[in-house]
Amino acid sequence: MRQDIDYILIGEDQIKQRVAELAAEISADYRDLGDLLLVGVLKGCAMFMVDLARAIDLPLAIDFIAVASYGASTESSGVVRLIKDLDTDISQRHVLIVEDIIDSGLTLAYLRSQLLRRNPASLRICTLLNKPERRTADVPVDYIGFDIPNAFVVGYGLDYAERYRNLPFIGVLRPEVYQSA
Ligand code: PRP
Ligand code: MN
Ligand code: MG
Repeated sequence: MRQDIDYILIGEDQIKQRVAELAAEISADYRDLGDLLLVGVLKGCAMFMVDLARAIDLPLAIDFIAVASYGASTESSGVVRLIKDLDTDISQRHVLIVEDIIDSGLTLAYLRSQLLRRNPASLRICTLLNKPERRTADVPVDYIGFDIPNAFVVGYGLDYAERYRNLPFIGVLRPEVYQSA
């Protein structure tokens, strides 16, 4: 698995430190609001979600939502479908969406508009990684772990063809791996 990685973009310790910083910021921002609900977007959010939740020093609830986007290529088409909805009624709740990466922004633009219809008390977005160069859909992001260049990254939840999610770091995939597929 590691032989498929060209280089490590963000190391394990760097992730750990930034997650702690984000959690501290979120804890301070929500301290007086109460009633925080973390909504993780499956499956990429998995590692970030559990590490972030553990580091937030507030009572909170967690829930998950799963979406899929369709298209001829591996890139998001903008047509997003709900695979698994929330179990929680988010009306009057303070909702924080937790994502691993924002690329085109299409997934989050869709999710945000869907969740806003349910009248949450507030709706914010937290992403570990942000690729600003690739944005096509405008979506407001409240908490960003790292802005990254337009490279094919995997690890810490991020996959290529469902693999590499369990790498403890964010790595750049060797082009041979996806070019030969
Ligand atoms: C990835 C990633 C984000 C989304 C970002 O999910 O986890 O959810 O794409 O892309 P966008 O900003 O261009 O919409 P993916 O659809 O690969 O599903 P996964 O989380 O199960 O890997
Ligand atoms: Mn995802
Ligand atoms: Mg994926």
